[in-house]
This record gives sequence, structure tokens and C-alpha cells, in this order.
Amino acid sequence: MAGKITVVGAGHVGEVCAQRLAEKELCREVVLIDIIEGIPQGKGLDQWESAPVEGFDTRVTGANDYGPAEGSDMFIVTAGIARKPGMSRDDLLRTNAGIVRSVGEQIARVAPGAVVIVVSNPLDVMAYVAKEATGFPRERVIGMAGVLDTARFRSFIALELDVSVEDVQAMVLGGHGDTMVPLVSYTSVSGIPVSHLIPGDRLDALIERTRNGGAEIVGYLKTGSAYYAPSAAAVQMAEAIVRDKRRILPAAAYLEGEYGHDGIYLGVPCKLGDGGLQEVIEVPLTDAEAAALAKSADHVRGTMAHL
Ligand code: NAI
Ligand code: 2OP
Repeated sequence: MAGKITVVGAGHVGEVCAQRLAEKELCREVVLIDIIEGIPQGKGLDQWESAPVEGFDTRVTGANDYGPAEGSDMFIVTAGIARKPGMSRDDLLRTNAGIVRSVGEQIARVAPGAVVIVVSNPLDVMAYVAKEATGFPRERVIGMAGVLDTARFRSFIALELDVSVEDVQAMVLGGHGDTMVPLVSYTSVSGIPVSHLIPGDRLDALIERTRNGGAEIVGYLKTGSAYYAPSAAAVQMAEAIVRDKRRILPAAAYLEGEYGHDGIYLGVPCKLGDGGLQEVIEVPLTDAEAAALAKSADHVRGTMAHL
């Protein structure tokens, strides 16, 4: 169990991350930080008051400064503004870059040995900003998107086939956005290649729905974006790291030549365990998948160029 995990940003994603971390008892203490006075304190106290009912001993508190976060083992960064209808993730770029930069500087000051999981959008570029701002090695700055995008794909396949989500394995790589790359060649249901079970045109429709998964929720909510599945995904990564589970999960990692890309964050299969990113796993891709990944990398580079 980790000592302390700090969640920066006590909005929708951050508050549910804190609750999931506490209910899973992944650490002794969860600190919620936000710039809005009273919000992290109130949410933290409310969550702690649920502890006797839910039966967890993880203390949850909130703050507007980084004093209580000192010495945290991990940070989950959800600070920023979320998408509104009609906004792309890239529209968030400038505002969130400034926020994530200042958060990264604070993290490096109070917890120089921490692992950072970035959630703020546009994800791949914000992970890069966090790496630059903290000065941490790539092992300790990882972006969350692939677990979420893969969970959406898995959930749609389970609905299509009317089977348990537990039996659906998949992997969505690439940048977090319209250019994400669901890998059909690595998608199976209890080991059966998905292409044996779902006709091509239906599979294409599920892939399209996955690519639009974030926008589909924004379309319903209208005033914000998804947070139940995103928080579940971020906490699954946190759990893999603090419990040293060495899980292979799709996550945004800083690439140093893997998959032919260098100097950018991109969703790839990652081994997550003690210390954060233990390995980027390289798997063979079909020509179409490799081309789609290259297109996605180009999109991330293009967004970075606007920084
Ligand atoms: P939200 O608007 O509900 O919460 C954001 C919180 O950040 C607000 O409470 C705000 O006061 C706070 N904040 C702003 N500046 C801050 C600062 N400097 N320090 C600390 N807190 C600060 O938004 P929500 O829904 O929680 O989303 C958060 C971010 O996560 C957004 O950028 C969103 O696009 C992104 N996101 C990314 C996903 C992914 O797959 N990577 C999935 C879902 C959301
Ligand atoms: C999502 O995919 C908005 O990136 C966020 O739901």
C-alpha cells in the first residue's frame, strides 16, 4: 500500500479518482487539491465520512495548497478545463498547458520521487508538459487514455455479442483522440479472434463508436465530459503501480524510438509496476495499424507544435 496519493483537480474526474483510491485502500492517505476554496476540503471530508459505511481506512482530505501533498508517492493530475459540446480536446491545449505546467512544478518541489499519472487533455501533449515541468524521467510520468479507450471498445464488443466484458480483451493505441488506433488483430473474446465473431461492417461501426466515445458522453452531458470510466481507468493504472502488479496496459508513454517514434507521448502497451513505467512493449502491427499509428503520432506532433 502506498503512503499518500494526491489527486490534483477536485472536479468530476478527480473526485471520483479520490473515492475509488480510498475505497480500494490503495494508500493510507488521499489528498485532493484544487484552486477553488472549500471544494477539495468539502469533497474530501464528505468522502472520509463515507469510510465507516464503506469500510475503508484511507484518510481523504482536501487542500488549496501543496503542503499536505508533500512526500506523496503518486499524483493523478486531472486539473484543467473539460470539453464542452463542440470543443475538441485540442481546443483545451493552451489553457490546460499553463495549468499542467504549474502543477508539474509544484509536484517536483514537494515530491521529487513521485510517479505522475496525467489525465488532463489534450492528453498526450499534457503528459509531455508534465514531464518537462517536473523534470522526471519517463518512467515516472505516464498518461491515461488507452485504458479508457480500450474499456470503451471492450464494453461495446460485450454489448454487441451479449457476453461478459471479462472475456473481451482488446488494445487501443495511439493518441487520445479521433486518430486513436483500436488493434483488431489483438482483440479477442476468450481467445477467439473478434473477426470470427463480428462481421467487418459491424466491427467498423464499433471502432467508430470507440473513436467518438468521449464526444458521445459530452453530447449527453452537455456541461462536461466523462468521468466514471476515466477515473476507473486512472485508478487501474495507479493500482498496477502501487501494488507492483506489472500489468500490461495501454498508456501514453514518452517514446524513445519504440514503434519508430521519438520525443512524443503516444499510447502504447506498457508494463506498469513499482516505479511506474517498467517497459514499453513492442508488438508487431499490420501495415494498416502501423500506418494508423504513424498518422496518430503526426497528429500529436502537430498539436505539440501549437504549444
Ligand atoms: P472539471 O472541470 O470537472 O474539473 C477540473 C478541476 O480542475 C476543476 O475543479 C478546477 O477548479 C480544477 N483546476 C483548474 N486549475 C487548477 C489548478 N491550477 N490546480 C488545481 N486544480 C485546478 O473537469 P473533469 O471532468 O474533472 O476533467 C478534468 C480534465 O481531464 C479535463 O482536461 C478533461 O478533458 C480531462 N479528461 C481526460 C480524459 C482522458 O482520457 N485522458 C478523460 C476524461 C477527462
Ligand atoms: C474522454 O475521452 C473527454 O477525453 C475525455 O471522455
